[in-house]
Amino acid sequence: MTRRLVMCGGGSLAVEIATFLRDLDAGERGDDVLVTDVVSPGAGRAVDLTAVCGNAFTTHADIASVVAKEAKQFIVCIGDPVVRHTVYVEIVRLGLTLARIVHPRAYISPSAVIGDGAIVYPGVFIGPFAQVGENVLLNAQVVIGHDARLDDSVVLSPSARLCGHAVCGTAAFLGTGASILPNVSLGAYSKLTAGSVLSRSVGDGFLMHGNPAAGRHMYRVPTDEAT
Ligand SMILES: CC(C)(COP(=O)(O)OP(=O)(O)OC[C@H]1O[C@@H](n2cnc3c(N)ncnc32)[C@H](O)[C@@H]1OP(=O)(O)O)[C@@H](O)C(=O)NCCC(=O)NCCS
Repeated sequence: MTRRLVMCGGGSLAVEIATFLRDLDAGERGDDVLVTDVVSPGAGRAVDLTAVCGNAFTTHADIASVVAKEAKQFIVCIGDPVVRHTVYVEIVRLGLTLARIVHPRAYISPSAVIGDGAIVYPGVFIGPFAQVGENVLLNAQVVIGHDARLDDSVVLSPSARLCGHAVCGTAAFLGTGASILPNVSLGAYSKLTAGSVLSRSVGDGFLMHGNPAAGRHMYRVPTDEAT
């Protein structure tokens, strides 16, 4: 059956994801995905997206103007975790269906759980009993150790690593090559900069940097009502 997909976000991340949708088509599951709509407030990379998708799609400034929403699946193609989470909350509030895109060349332990709306790039490793929440974005070569937990809308950049039992709160962000050591937690809306190593748990809204990572900045943490 063909899945009709609405991409929320029309920039470089959307181009990457559209590129590997073709691998899903060719995969063992014979998953056939057609991008029918792109929601992007600006022009984004519409020309490149059209070339990569190989078909025309309708563009929209907002989700509300997508027609036949109930017959389509939505995927958030936005890398900023706060914006990503806001769009996810809107999709859930509207009662729409989230797609889940797992590249066939990712390794997923059979006991791991992956939420709706998650995007798993090629080369990702997800270990036993890991819990990957909804709308999580795992970029190429990410490693999720056994029993690690990622809450909704976490964004991990390429080659980021979570050791066993590590935790990332809602909309947390790891830069390229950043690592969280075993049993260590990064709070909601916190960020660990590229290449940094988090060796002690921190709460919500911290920007952590270095090895061992130390706090450099505090973010305003949105309340539930604001997202
Ligand atoms: C985490 C990161 C994105 C910065 O987050 P941000 O929310 O944009 O942070 P800002 O640039 O607004 O900076 C906030 C504060 O933190 C400081 N800061 C940010 N990054 C820093 C870093 N790497 N080292 C030291 N301080 C840093 C800024 O100087 C600023 O300090 P100030 O409040 O005194 O002015 C950035 O450090 C990083 O890791 N970038 C790599 C992203 C990446 O790997 N992307 C891959 C996508 S595929």
